Amino acid sequence: METEILSIAADEPEESVRQKLSRAGDIIKNGGLVAFPTETVYGLGGDALNSESSRKIYAAKGRPSDNPLIIHIADMERLAGIVKETPENARRLAAAFWPGPLTMIMKKSDIVPVQTTGGLDTVAVRMPNHLLALEFIRAAGGYVAAPSANLSGKPSPTIAKYVIQDMMGRINLILDADGAQIGLESTIVDLTGAVPMILRPGYITQEMLSRVVGEVDMDITLFDCDATASPRAPGMKYRHYAPKGELVLVEGEPEAVLRYINTQTDLHRKNGIKTGVIGTQEQISRYHADSIKNAGSREEPLAAAQQLYTFLREFDDENIAYMYAEAFEGTGIGQAIMNRLLKAAGHKIIQV
Ligand code: TXA
Ligand code: MG
Repeated sequence: METEILSIAADEPEESVRQKLSRAGDIIKNGGLVAFPTETVYGLGGDALNSESSRKIYAAKGRPSDNPLIIHIADMERLAGIVKETPENARRLAAAFWPGPLTMIMKKSDIVPVQTTGGLDTVAVRMPNHLLALEFIRAAGGYVAAPSANLSGKPSPTIAKYVIQDMMGRINLILDADGAQIGLESTIVDLTGAVPMILRPGYITQEMLSRVVGEVDMDITLFDCDATASPRAPGMKYRHYAPKGELVLVEGEPEAVLRYINTQTDLHRKNGIKTGVIGTQEQISRYHADSIKNAGSREEPLAAAQQLYTFLREFDDENIAYMYAEAFEGTGIGQAIMNRLLKAAGHKIIQV
């Protein structure tokens, strides 16, 4: 398949943007696939109500078809069409966080094909906080199913370059535009039980959700190193974001972490093996590795979230065999960073 790339500049005239989005929307309406930017990561979109489109999404990603897709909407009125009923908590959370990086799980209505929900009777819904994405969803008919636009197992793409790397020849169109400021996928909260439960941590934290709906649980299997426990979001059980080389997280006092990582990377260097480090601003200049990624200050973990997937992809581009990352504090957005790092590292974490 030939993949077309449509770039949309930040200062592109309105009429030209409209034309491009209308073309993209028509592709979706005709059962095709379009990658598009959101404020979290790029999505790989298809018509959520067309089972054949969902089948194509799984094929393009090489993704197991029991791993359900998120349906993206642009207008609150559209929610009622795809859920059995709108729980009060969904109304409140939507008022507080939509459009934004929050996905809510509810009982699905009959028009949503089980191919889109991976066989489940629930559906994941999100309204992205990205103007182009919202206009694109409207142009596409209102319901766009979209997983992250990476090949299954690879880090989610936050820049078009990596969408192109993974999806060229597999989908109809790539919309190349600015956007993914958050850099990690949306928070997923399940509203089908008595107490809302976070299935995937993200920018919208447990504390932020609690302020709106009271008690909120966290799926503990997310941080459990016991591989036998099965997470509730089917997608969270698969190995993910994994770089080609081996990644290890190192947790402890900053000085001890620095010392451990430098000792390891020095050893590898003696054996002619290329190494990488993801470290924080506070001590970044003191690392010895071949490739050193500055995740910004420990005080502002959002910068680390924004760049994490790009760092992992760059390590691959640079053929790094062994990587070390400082562990982050597991609160606020740090919880989401740690969740993704643990997955990328296959849960290899060393306490020093
Ligand atoms: O930020 C995001 O959410 C991005 C952008 C494109 O919107 N999308 C994204 O989609 O991350 P994806 O497919 O890569 O991740 C969706 C996750 C998977 O772990 C999947 O198992 C879970 O959501 N999920 C989807 N529907 C679900 C359901 N009904 N019940 C439980 N988990 C569900
Ligand atoms: Mg994904």
